[in-house]
Amino acid sequence: MKIAVLPGDGIGTEIVAEAIKVLQSLDLRFEMETALVGGAAYDAHGHPLPEATLKLAMQSDAVLFGAVGDWKYDSLDRPLRPEQAILGLRKNMGLFANFRPAICYQELVNASSLKPELIAGLDILIIRELTGDIYFGQPRGRRVAPDGAFAGAEEAFDTMRYTRPEIERIARVAFEAARKRHKRVTSVDKANVLETFQFWKDIVTEVHKDYPDVALDHMYVDNAAMQLVKEPKRFDVVVTGNMFGDILSDEASMLTGSIGMLPSASLNASRQGLYEPSHGSAPDIAGKGIANPLATILSAAMMLRFSLDQEEAALRIEQAVKKVLAQGLRTADIYSDGTQHVSTKEMGDAVVKALAA
Ligand code: IPM
Ligand code: MG
Repeated sequence: MKIAVLPGDGIGTEIVAEAIKVLQSLDLRFEMETALVGGAAYDAHGHPLPEATLKLAMQSDAVLFGAVGDWKYDSLDRPLRPEQAILGLRKNMGLFANFRPAICYQELVNASSLKPELIAGLDILIIRELTGDIYFGQPRGRRVAPDGAFAGAEEAFDTMRYTRPEIERIARVAFEAARKRHKRVTSVDKANVLETFQFWKDIVTEVHKDYPDVALDHMYVDNAAMQLVKEPKRFDVVVTGNMFGDILSDEASMLTGSIGMLPSASLNASRQGLYEPSHGSAPDIAGKGIANPLATILSAAMMLRFSLDQEEAALRIEQAVKKVLAQGLRTADIYSDGTQHVSTKEMGDAVVKALAA
């Protein structure tokens, strides 16, 4: 089992260190190799995704990823910005299926800005298509507007596009996932306005014929954004395109109290995967030892489950996380009166201890 460890920038290094500690405390053997990515790689090698880092990732069974980005790189040319590293890994490894679960732990029900009764027991799985859509569509760029009311003016444009096979495969991933859960899929689109998403809706409906045991409904993305805060528990599996998924998954994360709790998995057709917390690099709190490592630790659990075929170890980690929450241990982002405030490292240590118990 070979794991490429790419901690990245900001809090990435601190939280990945805790996840590694947890992995190493299991009675499993991994080969782990660390490499630079994002701003850290740009500083050292002049590129956010150096050839050697990409090669290591491609040759591994799984990538454990921290986070990339810092405002100080915002003025670089786009291809050199830290975010290009994660986009490049997704594209080159073909990681088209992004799983972003939003689970509300009973202990954290009061950490959300929503009323506890709305979110108690919440368990949503957002499945975001990750290698297509307006994120990668060509052509894109800047030019002189060739037509329209402002012909001759400077303009910028991106292209939203999806091919049939891209939609079919992500729809299948969603229906298969729903079969292991509550057998409901909500496909989110903007078919009332966009050609791309009418096509999306038509194809998801077609693929659904192969999954008669799963209920399917369709929702426009604006309505989905509203329903997520109005009645979040109506959702089971949500499947959507790359851009809508980016936005809705951040929204869903806040239902659970803290984005610091949410893991994610990005898989390709051969189950090779990249595992990262759903949150970013948080440069404002980097180096302070206050970041929540649980999203990364839970991402390591997803890695064991999806790419390394170690379901039992994955469950053990998830149980250990529940245990430390039940013990009342909290990093700053999930702290509330009457709980015990701990650092990044203390939280990692507590999970290791809970695993051993
Ligand atoms: C995410 C992030 C990325 C995205 C950025 C960092 C490129 O927001 O993983 O959700 O937009 O996909
Ligand atoms: Mg995002």
